[in-house]
Amino acid sequence: MGVSDTDDYQATIQKSRDRMSDLKAFDDTKAGVKGLVDAGIAEVPQIFILPPKNRPEYSDTCGSQFNFPVIDLEGMNEDPIKHKEIVDKVRDASETWGFFQVVNHGIPTPVLEGMLRGTQEFFEQDIEVKKQYYTRDVTKKVAHISNFDLYTPSVPAANWRDSIFFSMAPNPPSPEEFPRPCREILMDYSKHVMELGKSLFELLSEGLGLNPSYLNNIDCTEGLSVLGHYYPACPQPELAIGTSKHSDNDFITVLLQDHIGGLQVLHQNQWVDVPPTPGALVVNIGDLLQLISNDKYVSVEHRVLANKVGPRISVACFFYTGPFPSSKLYGPITELLSEDNPPKYRATTVEDYTHYFRKKGLDGTSALLHFKI
Ligand code: OGA
Ligand code: NI
Repeated sequence: MGVSDTDDYQATIQKSRDRMSDLKAFDDTKAGVKGLVDAGIAEVPQIFILPPKNRPEYSDTCGSQFNFPVIDLEGMNEDPIKHKEIVDKVRDASETWGFFQVVNHGIPTPVLEGMLRGTQEFFEQDIEVKKQYYTRDVTKKVAHISNFDLYTPSVPAANWRDSIFFSMAPNPPSPEEFPRPCREILMDYSKHVMELGKSLFELLSEGLGLNPSYLNNIDCTEGLSVLGHYYPACPQPELAIGTSKHSDNDFITVLLQDHIGGLQVLHQNQWVDVPPTPGALVVNIGDLLQLISNDKYVSVEHRVLANKVGPRISVACFFYTGPFPSSKLYGPITELLSEDNPPKYRATTVEDYTHYFRKKGLDGTSALLHFKI
């Protein structure tokens, strides 16, 4: 190594030390991104600044010519003709987009609005109370966290987002452990989402040509985690990102978003907006359903843009048991395999998949690749 190489090396080391101490200082506030905004910052701090090649404006084209699929679930279990139409639409969207919106899904609008409000109230409550929930302990069933992958070296920049995690099934904590501002609505909303989830897995099973109860019988609805997100207004949205590009690591996700917008899905190599639609819910296929369907259904990458306007609230419900102990193996469903369609993945437990996904963080690559045969 020449002298200047050594200098470069020293400079790189110093830079990563500085970054580490900035991350730690941010984490130690336990006040999240909202804490920075409340303190009146006018510029995005370094730890949130994306390298130019990762910034949304530079890299991407927007596919405004596409119509994001919307499926009306009205009458799905009453009228056999409607039922078949709905199964066809769900199959088609799950194969081509990995995403769709549902309307007339049976969850009353006041419950949706209450869940968004309860989430917002959690983040906007007294900071000293909120801080008590801040933790990186992944075994906790209630956890407030900004950037679960904050310290992952391959993650280029922290996201402009705070989150609150709740494990709702199969073993929820006792109700007193839920924060007061969202306690009742969270339990009510989760019950509704669980019911909707069971119906969605019936439609998805039929779409695969399986018995309607197939995916419920293999326990796709055993686990439910709820993740409430708070995206504060961002002073320089072109330099940062709300949520980096990723695919979800569950069976399916049911997402509730408010009116602000910013969620985008990668479709035919273009980023397509998921339009905020009052009363609608967004459903997407996760990595584990792509794995067990042997790539018939696709787990598609999506992201959330940072925005001058805020806060934006969203609530993502993940069907899977997450990091909690599990021994059941999930591999490509035998009934779907043939000589022409051999298994593309090795089997894994949900626990192992989740650990791998979390360790990797949202670094822009898919965790599924690691399980490919
Ligand atoms: C997620 C996610 C999107 C949003 O939580 O996995 O993609 O709109 N959220 O917050
Ligand atoms: Ni997601």
